[in-house]
Amino acid sequence: MAPAEPHALRFRALGEVPQFAEEREGWKGYIEWEKHPEKKKQVQEIMAKYDFPEPPEFQLVPLPKTNPVLTGERWKQYHDACGLSDMYKDSWDFVLKEKSADMTHVLQFPYNGEAPGVSGLKLSKDMKTLTAQDRLIKTELTDNKDHFVRNHGGVPDIDADKWTLDVDGLVNEPKRLTLAQLQDETLFPRQSNIVTLQCSGTRRIEQIHEYPGDGDELINAPWGEGAISTARWTGVSLKKVIKHCGGLRAGADNLEFHGADTYFKKGGVHNYLVSVPWRKVRANEVLLAWEMNGKPLPRIHGFPVRVVVFGYIGARSVKWLYKVRAIARPSTAPVQMKEYLYYTGQIGKQNAQYSNGFSIQDMPVSSAIISPTNMDQIVHDGKMTVRGWAYSGGGHWPVRVEVSGDGGAVWYEVPYQNLTTKYFHAWRLWSIDLPVDAEGWLELCVRTWDNAMNTQPTYVRSAWNWDLHVTSSAHRVKVYSINKSKPATAARLKQLGDKGVSILPITKPLEFDLETDEEYEESMTARGWRDPVE
Ligand code: MTE
Repeated sequence: MAPAEPHALRFRALGEVPQFAEEREGWKGYIEWEKHPEKKKQVQEIMAKYDFPEPPEFQLVPLPKTNPVLTGERWKQYHDACGLSDMYKDSWDFVLKEKSADMTHVLQFPYNGEAPGVSGLKLSKDMKTLTAQDRLIKTELTDNKDHFVRNHGGVPDIDADKWTLDVDGLVNEPKRLTLAQLQDETLFPRQSNIVTLQCSGTRRIEQIHEYPGDGDELINAPWGEGAISTARWTGVSLKKVIKHCGGLRAGADNLEFHGADTYFKKGGVHNYLVSVPWRKVRANEVLLAWEMNGKPLPRIHGFPVRVVVFGYIGARSVKWLYKVRAIARPSTAPVQMKEYLYYTGQIGKQNAQYSNGFSIQDMPVSSAIISPTNMDQIVHDGKMTVRGWAYSGGGHWPVRVEVSGDGGAVWYEVPYQNLTTKYFHAWRLWSIDLPVDAEGWLELCVRTWDNAMNTQPTYVRSAWNWDLHVTSSAHRVKVYSINKSKPATAARLKQLGDKGVSILPITKPLEFDLETDEEYEESMTARGWRDPVE
């Protein structure tokens, strides 16, 4: 067995490396695997010949403190073996071009990245409150450069003028539409909505820390709190497009979306296919979008057109869309049938099947503390500012956010004035000046209630699941409290200040005596010394 990354051997081809022609002019990085069973078979035969590097063991051992955290050597070599190396090279170029320079690259290829600092992997140099991670919750709409990215393959580079969308399957009048037609407002009214996308991997790192689970061959990326972002998406409602195609034929109950990227699963190759039920489309909750926050979609977010499904797991919001197919049953393509499943706690490697998990669809209520972060040491005067996001899927919205300074015994409600606008399908950002009297290590935690009175499980264990999805339990961060409204603490801080020394980090020992001999004598006398007299 070949070793796992990062000690992966350099790729060595066994025999001739094939050249799969790109499908269409102006569509770089697109191969239509679904139309070509013979190409799929060829890839399967090639893949079976190789001993690829093992996926990295990052759950039972500490995560590398590097950025990218994981590099995806095994995945890159799948592409090398099939003559598709450009896909991972181009993917990284798009990251460098389109994303913030300080993103946390959870996985280099297929690219998975979140806004800086949120995964708890980074500590600021001065150990004071980090500033970088605040960016995720600075504004209700996430800057396109900071929006998380979750890819299963490379980034196709499609020329907008050459792009078309096929609508086929069980529709009355199958059609091929151009971007100009989709954007023609005499054909389709524009729709624009603020929608949060959330990957079901958000906060997976907490499940990993508690109990490791399925590594999966596509690395189950160790996400922090940043696999969630919000944008204003503009495009057309898929419902109108289906109507334009004469409506659905009898028996059609789901719409399958085909994305142009290349996706490997268990030795086979596919395009990225998932579906949503017609009832979701009928409610005008499925958008074919070309704009993200008033700008054309970045390539890495699906240019020229992607699907945005409101309130569902992000996985259904297909990027680089090229086909919508009306079908009878939910998609049996591997992304939906074999991934994004949620098991109960007693299901694992020993008994998991595709059919005994939930297929994750509506996202449950969840929230996270973004500031402060784990291990922060905070000097305060009896109130600690705590900030974060709260979200509920399926058309629900956060109504009440509660924060606890003692691990979840006493909860303080975030004043409603401190919650951002409510939307049917977007997060609310919140902040609270939390009363904190106690000093030392405290566990802050947050839980949210949505409008249907759903709330979050208290502990990670309550919702742990084999594929490590949907970490919806109350989010916890450990902080060290230094309350300067306490006279003793104020005196120590003054003493340090007079010497020009910071109390942070707390792990750095004090370089002077804690008391003079006289003070000690006086205090011990007042306490009646150490031992009883009688
Ligand atoms: N669409 C395609 N074609 N390929 C993908 O890998 N990833 C999905 C979804 N759409 C994916 C895709 C997943 S799992 C998520 S969470 C969202 O895209 C993330 O969207 P973003 O990368 O724009 O944030």
